[in-house]
Amino acid sequence: MLSRAERQAPAGSALRTDVREVAEIAQRMLEQVRSLAQTLHPSILEAVGLEGTIEWYLSSAQRQTGIAVAYDRTGLPVPVDVTVGTHVYRILQEALKNVARHAASTQAWVRLTVTPAELVLEIEDHGAGMPAATQGRGLGLVTMRERRR
Ligand SMILES: Nc1ncnc2c1ncn2[C@@H]1O[C@H](COP(=O)(O)OP(=O)(O)OP(=O)(O)O)[C@@H](O)[C@H]1O
Ligand SMILES: [Mg+2]
Repeated sequence: MLSRAERQAPAGSALRTDVREVAEIAQRMLEQVRSLAQTLHPSILEAVGLEGTIEWYLSSAQRQTGIAVAYDRTGLPVPVDVTVGTHVYRILQEALKNVARHAASTQAWVRLTVTPAELVLEIEDHGAGMPAATQGRGLGLVTMRERRR
């Protein structure tokens, strides 16, 4: 549509230049959304497992958000099922997104403990702290709870 509009605008006009520029911006946005969708999709889990995915994600999240994350991994190298791994990965993403959006802090701690009996993921920040009531504010915490089951 923008290409059509561009052709209809008089040649050499400011309108034509503007329409072209808007078309280029729209194209760049599409490309960014595609690349973001790839980051958010956990297909990498199948390739490198949960541990590798977390390490890769933390390094890219640190670059993107400017939050310094200290990562600590304890327990045995137990393989984690892809379905479980996907939930863990999504919980980590949401929790760190919350640190970036709400904590007013540039530091976070992530700890993962895996044993044959349980998997514990902790995300900690020393920022603003949680408000007394979080109900009705968003879906992140609700979704995290749902994924825990
Ligand atoms: N790390 C944090 N530090 C301080 N407050 C937080 C933190 N994480 C969450 N909160 C508070 O809890 C509320 C609920 O978080 P939740 O993730 O459910 O929703 P949201 O981040 O506001 O929106 P959404 O996740 O749906 O995009 C937030 O609005 C914020 O007030
Ligand atoms: Mg959130």
